[in-house]
Amino acid sequence: MTLSSPTNNAAAFGLYGLPPADLAEVPAGAIQFSPLMPGSMALEAQGEGSLAGMIVSAPPGTLERRYTLALTLKALAPGARLVVLAPKDKGGSRLRRELEGFGCVVEETARRHHRICTVARPQALGGLDTALVEGAQRLVPDIGLQSQPGVFSWDRVDRGSALLVEHLPNLAGRGADLGCGIGVLSRAILASPAVSQLALVDIDRRALEATRINVTDARVTRIWADLRQPPGDLKGLDFVVMNPPFHDGGAEDKALGQAFVRRAAELLKARGICWLVANRHLPYEAVLAPLFKTVTMRVETGAYKVYEAQK
Ligand SMILES: C[S@@+](CC[C@H](N)C(=O)[O-])C[C@H]1O[C@@H](n2cnc3c(N)ncnc32)[C@H](O)[C@@H]1O
Repeated sequence: MTLSSPTNNAAAFGLYGLPPADLAEVPAGAIQFSPLMPGSMALEAQGEGSLAGMIVSAPPGTLERRYTLALTLKALAPGARLVVLAPKDKGGSRLRRELEGFGCVVEETARRHHRICTVARPQALGGLDTALVEGAQRLVPDIGLQSQPGVFSWDRVDRGSALLVEHLPNLAGRGADLGCGIGVLSRAILASPAVSQLALVDIDRRALEATRINVTDARVTRIWADLRQPPGDLKGLDFVVMNPPFHDGGAEDKALGQAFVRRAAELLKARGICWLVANRHLPYEAVLAPLFKTVTMRVETGAYKVYEAQK
């Protein structure tokens, strides 16, 4: 496919996510826009027509993906080259039709179970507004919370989180909600007046943005971080509360939840308390046992376990 040159002076190149290196060649200096990569830029804030090209590793959720593609097309200069790819069974097979719906002429190839679509950003775009509205951050009436397609359990309260909220005692002192999402657990934690500070930590910028509406409390700080690394100078905490993730990039990743348990133990002071909820099938006991003095299963249902562990 012959691509015309961008018709304006846009020089910056954009990147969304981490495409497999053998499927897309990312130019040095590309600007990362994935909300799941702390420190990245927000596509929403990128000027219209300001990018000379972009590679998008498209997210699996339909609303999130269409929103991302619509923002990307807006940010690209007319004529700029866009490469979008995704595993075939995680949205890849829909890419072509979605891009055509926005007015693009698409060249599609298939490699290593991925669909790879290449387009030149057309002069005239269509159908962006619906995608931008459907994928935007907003109040979700069913849960009464600010949320956005793409964040964890975006339009319903996770049943594990609801169970933990039901059994959470009044906590006290300085604590953290690790992997806070849109703030379901934080709201419950802050109901205790004895809580003096609460750090909300998540890898997802969109979730943290939602907490600005859902968790308005002067005791709160927000940290956009990947908890596989230490989160800044947070330490000596009285408590940690969490519903640890066990998926990374759509695939089950038990090591991720286990890393959360290790991080919790590291952030707590001696005798600090960790409350956590987990799906029953997840193997947290073996990780909790050597790191905490006591580990007590407070609740067990058919699907979940709630633990209280004291360091
Ligand atoms: C199971 S959800 C729980 C969300 C929220 N606490 C709740 O109960 O609704 C796990 C959260 O961890 C976040 N997360 C996943 N991987 C992470 C990582 N490496 N570092 C920090 N947060 C992460 C996800 O974005 C998600 O919001």
